[in-house]
Amino acid sequence: AAIVEHTFEVKNLTVRRLCNEQVVTAVNGSVPGPTIRVREGDTLVVKVINNSPYNMTIHWHGIFQLLSGWADGPNMVTQCPIQPGRSYTYKFKIVDQEGTLWWHAHVSVLRATVHGALVIRPRSGTKYPFIKPYREVPIVLGEWWKADVVDLESQALATGAAPNASDAYTINGRPGDLYNCSQSPTYRLNVIQGKTYLLRIINAALNTQLFFKVANHNLRVVGIDAAYTDPYDTDVVVTGPGQTVDALLTTDQAVGSYYMAVSPYASAVGVDFRNSTTRGLIVYNGSTSTSPIMPQMPATNDTPTAHTFFSNITGLAGGPHWVPVPTQIDERMFVTVNLGLSVCGTNATCQGLFGARSAASMNNQSFQLPTTLSMLQAFFFNVSGVYTPDFPDNPPVVFDYTNDTNSLDTSLIFTPKSTSVKVLKYNATVEMVLQNTALIGIENHPIHIHGFNFHVLAQGFGNYDSFNDPSKFNLVNPQVRNTIGVPVGGWAVIRFVANNPGVWFMHCHLDVHLPWGLASAFVVQNGPTPSSRLPPPPADLPQC
Ligand code: C2O
Repeated sequence: AAIVEHTFEVKNLTVRRLCNEQVVTAVNGSVPGPTIRVREGDTLVVKVINNSPYNMTIHWHGIFQLLSGWADGPNMVTQCPIQPGRSYTYKFKIVDQEGTLWWHAHVSVLRATVHGALVIRPRSGTKYPFIKPYREVPIVLGEWWKADVVDLESQALATGAAPNASDAYTINGRPGDLYNCSQSPTYRLNVIQGKTYLLRIINAALNTQLFFKVANHNLRVVGIDAAYTDPYDTDVVVTGPGQTVDALLTTDQAVGSYYMAVSPYASAVGVDFRNSTTRGLIVYNGSTSTSPIMPQMPATNDTPTAHTFFSNITGLAGGPHWVPVPTQIDERMFVTVNLGLSVCGTNATCQGLFGARSAASMNNQSFQLPTTLSMLQAFFFNVSGVYTPDFPDNPPVVFDYTNDTNSLDTSLIFTPKSTSVKVLKYNATVEMVLQNTALIGIENHPIHIHGFNFHVLAQGFGNYDSFNDPSKFNLVNPQVRNTIGVPVGGWAVIRFVANNPGVWFMHCHLDVHLPWGLASAFVVQNGPTPSSRLPPPPADLPQC
């Protein structure tokens, strides 16, 4: 195993996109930032130098961070931010996971442009559980704004309204030839006929779930969220922000040019999104075509297509790093995932629904980050008052979650601010039902848990039925993920083992829902042996 070292300089720069010059924050001068390539078992050391005007943190999305929680990165959860002019070195080992993950800023909305791919290949001497690809290609899907995203967010938070939708989707940073001034460069992948390419697809968009297709070519999914899957053949890949898909593309078509294309899956009603398509090119060696073939994209509200993709993938049971489904449950949680409102506050005018402020919650708790000390420091140094160990295991009121709710008690719509977390014993097994609600809006929410992968036992629409739905659980080869799209108007059931002491954030990966409070955290207690206790923080851990 190797030690892989990188230096990330975070800085503002001006880029020209969509006929417009925009100042953005970026790592090492590019959007997306550098691709990190490691092998399973390696140690990654990244020195982050913050020369931007903003507070910065970097999160290694999906990395287990076993006993290295100080390197996880969410602002005020595992660290205070790296202030302008300062630096922090993230150091951690990558063990028992292979595939595609990514890194991104985890403070304010800066991940819009501060992100990149993190590719974990098998240790030398071990192999992929599928055909060796001829080439591996990161495909980073993003969003672009012709505005300063930090300004947009602060305006939205000030008025309580939702921020503006993006102005374009991007493939590896490029809006592509369907947008003005974007003909060149359109992302282009040159291929040779008769080869197999591994596309490492990452949804790095802030707020949009995306369909991805390649004209005339099928894709064979072999991994999601850096966990291997049974091979799953599909003509469309669907991802929510945070999720990744490893897919094999075989160049088995006539020599020619084909578009790859991205369009939104907008499950919600009344949510602002950009209804447009971004495309890139796949060009066969020897192609003389001047009119590439375009795939037919699904309708933006095509939930059946999204659900088919999300629910039919199974895990590669018995494959590399496979963990069997835990069967002894220690903690059962039922967690509602709500969009709601919070009161406007004195001297403010609010532009959310009913003149209120937009909010979101889990079990009616709108999570607020601490401001003086990170939660992980509070955990390690035993400081009270930073978070409260009282997250309700069940919603306070049981109702018909996914029905239209005009008649509902407004106390459920207006949610209080909270610092509630769930405390877990070391090695506790958790089964969690995530239930979407329709209090004021309904949407597929990509819920991400830091520090753990989980098995997805079942998912469905309507209200979860604790009597009948357990018979649908896949306990043999369920998919394994770090981010689960809780179906619009539906539910999902997950299980994981809390084998990693520390503080692990859980939140909706639609960026706008995070400051609204659609979050909580797990505090996992130390275990009995030195190798099951969180070590002390590194000396350069940023202070608040
Ligand atoms: Cu990819 Cu907490 O985030």
